[in-house]
Amino acid sequence: MNKLLVVDKLGKHFGGLVANEDISFHLEAGQIVGLIGPNGAGKTTLFNCIAGFYPPSEGTIRFLGNDITGMPSPKMAHMGIARTFQIVRCFGSMTVLENVMVGAMLRNKSVSIAHERASDELEFCGLSSRASVPASDLTVAEQRRLEVARALATEPHLLLLDEMMAGLTPSEVQEAVGLVKTIQKRGIACLIVEHVMEGIMPIADHMIVLDYGRKIAEGTPAEISCDPVVLAAYLGE
Ligand SMILES: Nc1ncnc2c1ncn2[C@@H]1O[C@H](COP(=O)(O)OP(=O)(O)O)[C@@H](O)[C@H]1O
Ligand SMILES: [Mg+2]
Repeated sequence: MNKLLVVDKLGKHFGGLVANEDISFHLEAGQIVGLIGPNGAGKTTLFNCIAGFYPPSEGTIRFLGNDITGMPSPKMAHMGIARTFQIVRCFGSMTVLENVMVGAMLRNKSVSIAHERASDELEFCGLSSRASVPASDLTVAEQRRLEVARALATEPHLLLLDEMMAGLTPSEVQEAVGLVKTIQKRGIACLIVEHVMEGIMPIADHMIVLDYGRKIAEGTPAEISCDPVVLAAYLGE
């Protein structure tokens, strides 16, 4: 088995608050893994640990066979981990193209090559026609795609998507689903936090369920959708 990411007994505490506890799972190259759980379950915290925004309090994270536990986010980006944010963080006064060039500059010191790379990712994400407008002019759905384009421009092996379908219309959700499928075809693995079940269930190879900071279930989408432990966690929300 070709393990891309291995999270082992990961814990994250904020003072006395236990946001993540004893979380273990792995992700294979090119796989789409869905991460679900009620609000406050610890999904974004887990992303922040994997992407190097917070050092974990306990446990280890291995990526491509290397121990990357506690590495800061720029190093994680260099290793090949990219992310989007639950609350979009575009550079509003910069153009759409410039936003994506920020990602492309990670591996390309030449501005003209970064420009070319950013244009390609904008096209891939269906944003070419918006390249020269300020990012703040984009709709929510477009801003989410812009974050994906910026993350892809860093040439990741693993993309962490935090609720990219939140607030989208049903047809925009279907477009986002299509985008994730084409990302997978490029061989990029995706770990996806998602509340929109019709967005994540059809595309996930594997699902992980968190509740109160702990992993309470994992399996195929079909398996977890009829798991009584998972249903109880959602009924309690
Ligand atoms: N930087 C932080 N400082 C203190 N508490 C935090 C911080 N980030 C998250 N938390 C807490 O950790 C818990 C899990 O939050 P989060 O990971 O955002 O959950 P989810 O993304 O599943 O909704 C919550 O109780 C939240 O208030
Ligand atoms: Mg969250």
